[in-house]
Amino acid sequence: MSINILCIGDVVGKCGRAALAELLPGLIRQREIDLVVCNAENSAGGSGLTPAMFNKLLHYGVDVVTLGDHVYRKREITESLGNSERIVRPGNISARAIGRRWTVVPTKSGKHQVAVACLLGQMYMKPADSPWSAIEGILAEIPPAVKTRVLDFHAEASSEKIAMGWHCNGRASVVFGTHTHIPTADARVLDGGTACISDLGMTGPYDGVLGRMKDRVLYALTTSMPTPFQIAKNDVRLCGAIATVDPTTGRAESIERVEIKAEGPAVTEEKNNSNHKRHEE
Ligand SMILES: [Fe+2]
Ligand SMILES: [Fe+2]
Repeated sequence: MSINILCIGDVVGKCGRAALAELLPGLIRQREIDLVVCNAENSAGGSGLTPAMFNKLLHYGVDVVTLGDHVYRKREITESLGNSERIVRPGNISARAIGRRWTVVPTKSGKHQVAVACLLGQMYMKPADSPWSAIEGILAEIPPAVKTRVLDFHAEASSEKIAMGWHCNGRASVVFGTHTHIPTADARVLDGGTACISDLGMTGPYDGVLGRMKDRVLYALTTSMPTPFQIAKNDVRLCGAIATVDPTTGRAESIERVEIKAEGPAVTEEKNNSNHKRHEE
């Protein structure tokens, strides 16, 4: 019996969190999802994640949160990174950085174990250690009995992400890309049984530029003037992919993109909380 793993791309701001609150519970039910992995590096005002938001994501149905280059933008997340097995930091930064490089959690039924890790890319990104070396260490450390292995490769270049898929072919069940906030149409299962997609796209507002208000970005680009980029609000979608994996072998059987438009903030519980500070939008 195979398991269904839902991978969700970068949750951006309050509207991205609201889209998860609105859509995730139904999606888990309808698609019989066994595990949800979600990149939440942009959840707090477009950059970082707070412990309160992390707990809300778990409440909505996320099983493991992954992060990216904005991992420590909200310093207080070190509390969750130090305490919870439900969140991982990028595995190729300093060995002394707070947080797990990989984790193993049970599926929702409790019948199977799944390992999850994330890594940063090196191309057009801030300096990070080699993800190619880091993945060898991580795959060697995960208990051999845990066959189902999921990697979030948080990177800018499609080529680097496709290469990581091939590098892990037959050794990881799912390799999905995040960070660019643009969904790609290349979801496929490689011949060794690794389900890949270059980028899941973001869970946030598409009526802008990578989640930021388009008029601010355009002003900055056309005038060269420094401009704060606020989070856009409209055309909010949940983006990700569902991979089906045989947990006895760890081989993926299929992968399918998911993109669902949110109806709007009126139906979410987050809307009712009027005490959000500006930086939490
Ligand atoms: Fe990122
Ligand atoms: Fe991101």
